[in-house]
Amino acid sequence: MIKRDNSFTKENIIFYLSTPPALYQVIPERLAAAGLNKEDNGWKRLVIEKPFGYDLDSSTALNTALQKSWKESQIYRIDHYLGKETVQNLLVTRFSNGIFEPLWNRNFIHHVEITSAESIGVENRGSYYDDSGALRDMIQNHLLQVTGLIAMDPPASLNADAIRNETVKVLQSLRPISKDEVEKVAIRGQYLSSTIGGKPVKGYREEEGVDPDSKTETYAALKFYIDNWRWGGVPFYVRTGKQLPARVTEAVIHFKPTPHHLFVPKGSCDTCNQLIIRIQPDEGILLKMGMKTPGAGFKVQNVSMDFHYTDLLDVRIPDAYERLLLDSMTGDKTLYARIDAVTAAWEFMMPVLDAWKNDPEIPVHGYPAGTWGPDVADSLIEEPDMNWRQPCRALTGNDDFCKL
Ligand code: BG6
Repeated sequence: MIKRDNSFTKENIIFYLSTPPALYQVIPERLAAAGLNKEDNGWKRLVIEKPFGYDLDSSTALNTALQKSWKESQIYRIDHYLGKETVQNLLVTRFSNGIFEPLWNRNFIHHVEITSAESIGVENRGSYYDDSGALRDMIQNHLLQVTGLIAMDPPASLNADAIRNETVKVLQSLRPISKDEVEKVAIRGQYLSSTIGGKPVKGYREEEGVDPDSKTETYAALKFYIDNWRWGGVPFYVRTGKQLPARVTEAVIHFKPTPHHLFVPKGSCDTCNQLIIRIQPDEGILLKMGMKTPGAGFKVQNVSMDFHYTDLLDVRIPDAYERLLLDSMTGDKTLYARIDAVTAAWEFMMPVLDAWKNDPEIPVHGYPAGTWGPDVADSLIEEPDMNWRQPCRALTGNDDFCKL
């Protein structure tokens, strides 16, 4: 018989559920029935992969079921975006520098844009994805968590609850989207067959495991507001999609134009400042600002001050999961989603999910694989001269080709 050596791990156990979501309730119940939730000798923790629930009701039901035999302190809801180095750096950029925070509000920020683009399709996950869609797969969790970190107030300390108290306040302040406005503020799309780099690419409905009449979105774009003192009136634009031209995730803080139009005409945002937080790839931060073009007159051009994480020599950027799993061992829940945040995110998404499910009049816009999604998503940004930033560094290696 093999004798277990517990001297290091004691009776500490992590159960990591990366299983089909339908088992997220059953497995913990059975573990508890076998007494494996008891913490008499060492801690017992559950790490649960996303999605936590399929909608508000199922998320609440799952949580209620788990909490019958597991304490909240034992439950770690993973959102791997929170484990990304550059997502954590949002806190450091904002709160370790004196120059950003005074400007980080409705007085100076015009709008905020968050893009998470993927250049792959649904790969071999067609049947999972067809029940999910971009809104559930990316926005309800990853991108709303990123929004929470961008929009939060400074936490009282760096402890997990202090930080999560602030992010949840953001999610609870999201202005509810009414059923009637869904069509105006939420765009859905689905990739169509196309040719990328000379190779044919299947449309979403031709993918294995996908219903040939599917209306599931592979692209989603949303406009919303955060109704609080800091953000009142500042639009947030969030978009995500599969089979877009590049894999890139970034947040762009668009600052307001100068109040006095000395160098550029009123209404033009050619030299508006932008802070671009590149979450992946080429992790880093880019600040765009106007500079004089050498020579006669005052011609202004937008230039870039660019920091790349790779410039920090000898520093390896850990994978999100390395950080998160280590935190689950040390008991640090800062980067795990608390149930009130999960609930607030579902509450916010439900009117859109319901309308997309029940209203056949709301179109699913096709977009050829390899393009930036349906053109109609441009209409979400109603300002003249403004559009989604094309994160073209990922495409061209040179940010100066980017629009705005
Ligand atoms: C997962 C989604 O949570 O995140 C996938 O289920 C998506 O559909 C993935 O591809 C994206 O993660 P990353 O880290 O590659 O941006």
